[in-house]
Amino acid sequence: PLTSPKQMFAAAYAGGYAIGAFNVNNMEIIQGIMGAAAAEKSPVILQVSAGARQYAGQGYIMKLVEAALQDDPSIPVVVHLDHGPSFEMCRDCIDGGFTSVMIDGSHLPYEENIALTKQVADYAHPRGVWVEAELGKLAGIEEHVASAEHVYTDPDQAVDFVRRTGCDSLAVAIGTSHGAYKFKGEARLDFDRLETISQKLPGYPLVLHGASSVPQEFVALCNKYGGQVGGAKGVPEDMLRKAAGMGVCKINVDTDIRLALTASIRQFLAEHPEQFDPRAYLKPARQAVQDMVAHKIRNVMGSSGKA
Ligand code: G3H
Ligand code: 13P
Ligand code: ZN
Ligand code: NA
Repeated sequence: PLTSPKQMFAAAYAGGYAIGAFNVNNMEIIQGIMGAAAAEKSPVILQVSAGARQYAGQGYIMKLVEAALQDDPSIPVVVHLDHGPSFEMCRDCIDGGFTSVMIDGSHLPYEENIALTKQVADYAHPRGVWVEAELGKLAGIEEHVASAEHVYTDPDQAVDFVRRTGCDSLAVAIGTSHGAYKFKGEARLDFDRLETISQKLPGYPLVLHGASSVPQEFVALCNKYGGQVGGAKGVPEDMLRKAAGMGVCKINVDTDIRLALTASIRQFLAEHPEQFDPRAYLKPARQAVQDMVAHKIRNVMGSSGKA
């Protein structure tokens, strides 16, 4: 059923695992993710960015999710707004049946981030909707060192922010970044910082954005069949498992879905140049998403069998 993240995160926190939050843009991606969650008997978060909402339409996404839930009512599913840019978009999603929204004021001055996040929480909470917020800026180690500013989440500020906004979960910046090019050299995350934040906010669910692993097999397939995805590097799976045991209850994945889907389509079209029926290449692409997500649920999130 469509659910709040509340029970999911409480169980994940206590059990030292995480719930995968996967970005959705169309039917094949939703079906691939839901197929994996059903096969693994895992709770799952389907998240919709502002761009996805604009691409597919909020109504279409909700109807697709409803159809998926009818197919398999036993899987707990959260529908979440990813990186909500404004109060108005959060309100539209809350009114449209989302069970969770993120308000992303991380680019704003601290007090403005607090005011905006609190405004969303005050609207969401009476309606039973969960609110994720973000403090700090997602950036790799190099960018952090280059700047004197607090790019990474400051632990004491995190405590103050949560208390003053009433947000239900917090995305932290500890060295991950969005997209396929996360690290120039060796992958590194600031686990000392994560541990401090987690200790200062006991029992409180943290969120890790920019958590794709950028599997090199997908990169290689893309490049073999005409792609140009050079030097791509993600977060190693063991680092994600470690984070999941340190208060991180939600791990965000978008890039790996894009890579799995595109690698499959590139390969299929290259090997079957006579084919032009979209179903012919979207069927294996959907399966590639499902296989990738099932692997992640089982081996990275640790949420198999928790539905
Ligand atoms: O955090 C960003 C997500 O990967 C969504 O990306 O805004 O291109 O849909 P998007
Ligand atoms: P990736 O780009 O690492 O998949 O991160 C996705 C994300 O954080 C969506 O909010
Ligand atoms: Zn993100
Ligand atoms: Na966890």
